[in-house]
Parts: sequence; structure tokens; C-alpha cells
Amino acid sequence: MPGRVILDTDTGVDDALAILLAMRSPELRVEAITGVCGNTPLENCVRNIYLTLSVLDAHETPVVAQGEVRPLVRELAFAGDIHGDDGLGGVTRLVDADGRRAYPDPDQRPSTVHAVDLITDLAGRYPGELILIAVGPLTNVARAVMKDPDRMRGLREIIIMGGAFETGGNVSPVAEFNIHADPHAAQIVCDAGIPLVFVPLDVTRQAFLDAGTIDRFAAAAGTGEAGARAAFVRDCTSSYVAFHRQKRGVNGCFLHDPLAVAVAVREELVTTVPARVDVETAGDLTTGMTVSDLRSDRWGDPNARVCTAVDVQAFTRLFEERVLA
Ligand code: RIB
Ligand code: CA
Repeated sequence: MPGRVILDTDTGVDDALAILLAMRSPELRVEAITGVCGNTPLENCVRNIYLTLSVLDAHETPVVAQGEVRPLVRELAFAGDIHGDDGLGGVTRLVDADGRRAYPDPDQRPSTVHAVDLITDLAGRYPGELILIAVGPLTNVARAVMKDPDRMRGLREIIIMGGAFETGGNVSPVAEFNIHADPHAAQIVCDAGIPLVFVPLDVTRQAFLDAGTIDRFAAAAGTGEAGARAAFVRDCTSSYVAFHRQKRGVNGCFLHDPLAVAVAVREELVTTVPARVDVETAGDLTTGMTVSDLRSDRWGDPNARVCTAVDVQAFTRLFEERVLA
């Protein structure tokens, strides 16, 4: 029986790759994909979810619902410099030789049910079963906890792409984007009494997709779904790779969000340690920092497991087989 999951996403480029991995993993049954503001404004996020789903021959499309348009307290700075002003590497502006848009706006419309209500409804419908995979800011998740904490404690676990524990941040020396975008939401989730697994930059920076691999699969793919999928991965990662080449000095891109999905698919890919995790919400220099000591439990009872190592080869193989091939 596949595991039931919700994917909560701020559908940027690596989020799109995470959606492809989740949808093409038979171990998972994607009950819903919920959008949250983060990399890009919410309206882009929902459109990008449908654009990503459109390259799949998925027999059934999960419910798509839109969530929060802004963080709980802080003002949001979108990541257009990394994910493009459309959130998907500029693919919405790609045209073919005839001047027709390569990826036209989808005609689907999201559910009329708000993402927060959908999350709490599903948590109540599948107590002990449902895994929530959060690959954007935790605004929707925190709102769901505030709305119905008891139902949310029925979640099997929340897998969070977020944080930086024994490595530097990516939006400040100490903070990772998803946590930094809404630190108040992240602290509410840390205090919710729900089993948490953090998939932080400590491991996601090892989940690397080489540009040559992207091009190799795109060149080898025939027509049909595999060809459309490989072309989409090539098209939506092009500017994302260019950012990594220019700013990170690598010829490829980090697969932050796909690794969080992979943990739901095959948890043995990572090594975790129990830890008390809290989030700085008021520091001038440290807002958004995940505050934890992975060396000891001196600072309080563990409220999470933190990924400290990843089997890079096994993850890369899984990603290539499921998303690129
Ligand atoms: O820090 C990486 C995270 O921030 C990823 O989820 C990426 O999509 C951005 O949202
Ligand atoms: Ca994301």
C-alpha cells in the first residue's frame, strides 16, 4: 500500500522536480499538492504545479489547493533571481519555432478548498497514515496547526526541507530560505508535538544534479511522456543551473526539495539524529536560524530528527530513474 502524502510547495524549480519525483514514485500516493508563497507569488506557484503535472501521463491528478499568500509576520522576499520571475526558470516565456508557447498556461483551476483546510481535513481522515512533505516556507503548515492542533498531531510525520545545522545558510550566514521566509511559522511547527524530520542544507547540498546529466537524458529521450518530461527538466533548470554556476561555482544544481521527497520514498537514504530544534525569530543577524545542538541533548527533549548524512549515489540513482529516464 503506497504511503499517503501531501506535498506543500512554493513551486520553484527544485519544487517542480520534487513534484515529478513524488508523482513517479509508486511508494507514494500523492493525496494533494498545496501551494504556499515563497520562491514566487502564490498565483505563480499554483500555475507551476499544474504546468509540472502537465508533462506527466499521470492517470489521476491530485487535488491542488492554494494556501497562504504571505508569511505569518515577516515580509516576504521572493527568490526570482534563482527561480526566475515566473518561479519556473522562465519556461512560461519559451516559444517554439512557430511562436507558440512551449508551456501554455494550464486551464485547470485549484480547489475552492483552502490549502490549510485541506491539510487538516486529510490529517483527520487518515490519522497515523499521512505524511506531510513541506518544501517551502511553513506558513500553511503553521496555520493548520493553529487551526486544528489535535488533527495535525495525527500526522505520521512532517518531512521538512529546511534549516542549516552544521553548515552555513543560503540567505544569510546562518539561515536557510524556507525557515528564514517564515521563522514564526517554523517555530510553531517545532512546538506542535508532531514527529518532524528536517532535511537541511547539510545534506541537500550533497544532492547535486550535474548539468551534463540533464542534457544527456534530454538528448536520449524519445518522444512521448519521457521526452516531454526530460525536455521540461532541461528547460526549467537552465537558468537555475546558470545561477548555481555563477554564484555557487558548480555546473549543475542542488536538489533540495527532491531529497525531502526521497526521504518519504526511502528513508534509509539518510542518517538522522534526534535533536531539540528551535528557530530564531527576532535576531537582527540570526533570524531564521535553526538553533540546535546535534552533539547532545542538553538543551531539551528532542522534537525532531535531523538528517546528517545522505547516500548520494543511491539518491542520484533514484532521481535519475524516476525523473529523468
Ligand atoms: O533553501 C532551499 C529551499 O528554498 C528550497 O525549497 C527551494 O525551493 C527554496 O524554496
Ligand atoms: Ca521549495
